[in-house]
Amino acid sequence: MIELDRGAALEAIAVEVRACTNCRLHETRTLAVPGEGSPETEVVFVGEGPGYNEDRQGRPFVGRAGALLERFLMTLGWQREDVFITNIVKCRPPDNRDPEPDEVAACAPYLRRQLEILDPALVVTLGRHSLGRFMPGERISGAHGTVRPVDPTTGAANALAFALYHPAAALRAPEIERTSYQDVARIPAALLQARARREAATTTAPAPSSAAEDVVTAAIPADAPDIRDLPEVPVAPDAAIDAAIDAAPHLALLATSEAGAADDQLTLF
Ligand code: URA
Ligand code: SF4
Repeated sequence: MIELDRGAALEAIAVEVRACTNCRLHETRTLAVPGEGSPETEVVFVGEGPGYNEDRQGRPFVGRAGALLERFLMTLGWQREDVFITNIVKCRPPDNRDPEPDEVAACAPYLRRQLEILDPALVVTLGRHSLGRFMPGERISGAHGTVRPVDPTTGAANALAFALYHPAAALRAPEIERTSYQDVARIPAALLQARARREAATTTAPAPSSAAEDVVTAAIPADAPDIRDLPEVPVAPDAAIDAAIDAAPHLALLATSEAGAADDQLTLF
């Protein structure tokens, strides 16, 4: 899809979200928050749901948690416009309570459709609810800073998920904030890993499967992309991460237009 198509398709979803009454959260919202960012990005950040400021402005991560998220991005040489930022539920749960399972389910098709359009290489989860969608069964305390293959039924057809603590948790606990900066520093390596995996999926025929692989693939729909990588891809050693961080600000997010030229908006670093 060229950028105009993606942008128009994302805006069509945003229009639906702003008028949506599919769950009770519409009754108490001020503005729905569809999400925003570059239609051509390789990286999508998924939070939990809008808070007070987001509900007032109709934009994701514009409060204190958003300011911290922007600082995280800045350490990678990225700006919020370079990525796409959205949430599991698009309307604010009253008093910032957790979204209820029926609200999460009612809202799920919007995120699925956004991911189908964006086709990201990397989905960065922010907090528990987002983790639950992209790394089901994992606990944030163990999963933060690591990647897993994403189930294509989420809408992201061939992506890795990378888990972060929620920035709001980092604001409450200096130890989590410190850990989050270390986790964020692994994002470029995760993106390179995700790219390599996508490349392999489009260029290599599936290897002959062993019995163990058959067990894994039995649970995967026949038409799903090949995700027979290790269920948990180990993060790269520190030296490789350093190298990736040096390299990635220049490589990452260099979305190309149909003509193959780098998009001006994305070549800020
Ligand atoms: N917290 C979230 O999870 N999402 C936002 O958009 C803002 C704060
Ligand atoms: Fe619709 Fe999602 Fe808002 Fe519920 S939270 S009203 S499903 S947009």
